[in-house]
Amino acid sequence: MQVAIFGAAGQLGVELVREFTARSHQVHSFRRADVDITETSQLEAKLASLEIDLVLNSAAYNKVDIAETEPQVAYAVNGLAVRNLAVVCRQLDARLVHFSTDYVFDGTAGRPYREDDPVRPISAYGVSKLAGEFYAQAYSDSALVLRTSGVFGPAGVGTAGGNFIESMLRLASKGGPLRIVNDHIASPTFAPELARVTAELVERGETGVFHAGGGQPISWFDYAAKIFRQANLSPELKPTNEREYRTAARRPKYSALENWRLNKTGILPMISLDEQIQWYFSLRKA
Ligand SMILES: NC(=O)c1ccc[n+]([C@@H]2O[C@H](COP(=O)([O-])OP(=O)(O)OC[C@H]3O[C@@H](n4cnc5c(N)ncnc54)[C@H](OP(=O)(O)O)[C@@H]3O)[C@@H](O)[C@H]2O)c1
Repeated sequence: MQVAIFGAAGQLGVELVREFTARSHQVHSFRRADVDITETSQLEAKLASLEIDLVLNSAAYNKVDIAETEPQVAYAVNGLAVRNLAVVCRQLDARLVHFSTDYVFDGTAGRPYREDDPVRPISAYGVSKLAGEFYAQAYSDSALVLRTSGVFGPAGVGTAGGNFIESMLRLASKGGPLRIVNDHIASPTFAPELARVTAELVERGETGVFHAGGGQPISWFDYAAKIFRQANLSPELKPTNEREYRTAARRPKYSALENWRLNKTGILPMISLDEQIQWYFSLRKA
């Protein structure tokens, strides 16, 4: 297939480029410097000249707290730009794969969310990502939307946003106790595994919404403890909670994802979280 990948310099984008290239697809990768997905004319110009079969959109505005002060920017990238992509895909008869988030849920279920659970975002970021899901599916019956959670990939070492592991290592290097929330649960997801699962879903022609989280519901505190064990570091960790640790954006308390549809496809599940972190550190070292 001729595959266009947007957000190609991001944590997931780098892995999508690697995975789809390894599977012998013809990959055309676009970083933000190449194409700003909010610019319809740029998108059309880039894609019209290529006979694209598939568009993978891993570009996103991920600054959850800052989105509360600039919701228009978040909406432009996560919502309206996905509409641009969906419209262009429709014109070119190409399939669209779009990535979304566990933050479309309000986090009150107290158990991992399934694809058919009701959505109710509680932040500007969550609303913008839900709009993207709707736009992706509004213009195409063949769109594939993958919701994921707490993405970490080796490209995060060099990106401005980074990831949770890099934040933990940076904070630990400063010394002093680390306060980490113990009452919020997510399912951290290793970008190379997400890229593999994406390719397998695409090659099977799957459509609609799928959950593709890392597979293990875990609090940020316990996740940090796991990270430091694997890094052979022992900073002082102090559990805190959302009442003590206020952020600009509200976050769902329990947003782990159950990969319910994915597990039914017979695709090999993602490796365990311990293995994902171990793999991350070996790539980071390399
Ligand atoms: N990271 C997480 O914890 C997490 C959790 C749940 C869901 N997700 C979703 O998973 C997907 C992949 O996330 P990720 O971790 O790979 O994110 P990432 O590392 O932040 O990569 C996103 C990429 O999109 C680019 N981008 C931003 N605005 C753009 C625009 N207007 N036009 C073109 N490119 C633009 C960014 O470029 P700049 O760096 O130059 O801005 C960056 O390279 C996203 O859909 C995200 O919402 C992520």
